[in-house]
Amino acid sequence: MSNLFTPLKVGAYTLQHRVVLAPMTRLRTIQPGDIPSPMMADFYAQRASKGGLEIIEGVSISLTARSYLGAASFYHDGQVAGWKAIADAVHAKGGRVFMQLIHGGRQSHVEMTGGVAPLAPSVVPFEGVALTKDGFVPASPHRVIELEEIPGIIEEFRIAAQRAKDAGFDGVELHGANGYLIDQFIQDGSNKRTDAYGGPIENRVRFLREAVEALISVWGADRVGVRISPSGEWGDISDSDPVATFTHVARVLDSYKIAYLHVIEPRIKGDDTLHEGQQPVAVKFLRPHFSGQIIAAGGFDGESAEAIVAMGDADLVAFGRHFTSNPDLPYRLRHKLPLTPYVRAAFWGGDETNYSDFTNYEEAQAA
Ligand SMILES: Cc1cc2nc3c(=O)[nH]c(=O)nc-3n(C[C@H](O)[C@H](O)[C@H](O)COP(=O)(O)O)c2cc1C
Repeated sequence: MSNLFTPLKVGAYTLQHRVVLAPMTRLRTIQPGDIPSPMMADFYAQRASKGGLEIIEGVSISLTARSYLGAASFYHDGQVAGWKAIADAVHAKGGRVFMQLIHGGRQSHVEMTGGVAPLAPSVVPFEGVALTKDGFVPASPHRVIELEEIPGIIEEFRIAAQRAKDAGFDGVELHGANGYLIDQFIQDGSNKRTDAYGGPIENRVRFLREAVEALISVWGADRVGVRISPSGEWGDISDSDPVATFTHVARVLDSYKIAYLHVIEPRIKGDDTLHEGQQPVAVKFLRPHFSGQIIAAGGFDGESAEAIVAMGDADLVAFGRHFTSNPDLPYRLRHKLPLTPYVRAAFWGGDETNYSDFTNYEEAQAA
């Protein structure tokens, strides 16, 4: 019997299967203004399924939160219609759709932040990149977020969450992974603060807590998820004791009774390089500390996804790259059909080609 295709209650919603679309930044908003494009609506509509969950690519909550030219954001009224079209398109197919909210923090460049230095918990040597009109460039020097600025950034999270709600989304996912701002506060390689937001892990999760509380104030806990990457290295992120740090994070998030915890598994670094010599913090270590639903992501195929759900380490599995080239991925996994290979060259930017022009299995057979 398949475990992936049994219904499951996730927060406020009952899903019909556990194959989730992982959030993927594809750099296809219309410039200027980061306007969600019609091809984005096509992309998400094609991947929607009855009772399935999609998580929209990282959506920057403000101008200063942006990292990559062409990436999604939601902070001005000119973007409302585009986001509404995406939510409507997913709903028309019976799917559920959460918007991932992101602040890039130090992973940015003055050209992306509106001319100001990227923000970070602390100033530490950092090798990261941003994407501007000149392509990938080294991140600009960042500056410390002053204590009195923190409520304003938390408020930006709240406003973006409200915008997602007004645009008709079903919930929001806080991007606490991949070395962006939330993760920069959590991990001690990037957080050297000596105030209430730095030092012991209880302090380093304060920013996360406040962001989660802001999202919950808009949505209620049962429509809020959080993504973490305890073993990730993207964004030059590191922690001296990831196991202690992230078991604490899982316990903190458990206390809010959020809809789900979304964990990127350790075998993934950036995209698909194996980790070496690193203490892995896989979902199975976090499971005892989080009583709600867990989504695992990173390097899964149909077989390993079935296995992790069968073992009970995760309840759902998010697929990234395979979903890019297989719009009907849940159907293909369910019927053990072959997968169309993904096209990495089209991941970051471009037009519809190898983005919204992949066909479903049945259509491909008929052609
Ligand atoms: C093109 C691309 C864009 C991505 N953008 C995001 C993003 O916006 N937010 C995020 O949390 N993860 C992002 N990721 C990571 C994916 O969500 C996922 O964790 C990763 O691809 C591993 O899963 P996979 O092996 O199924 O592809 C991205 C990955 C890819 C390939």
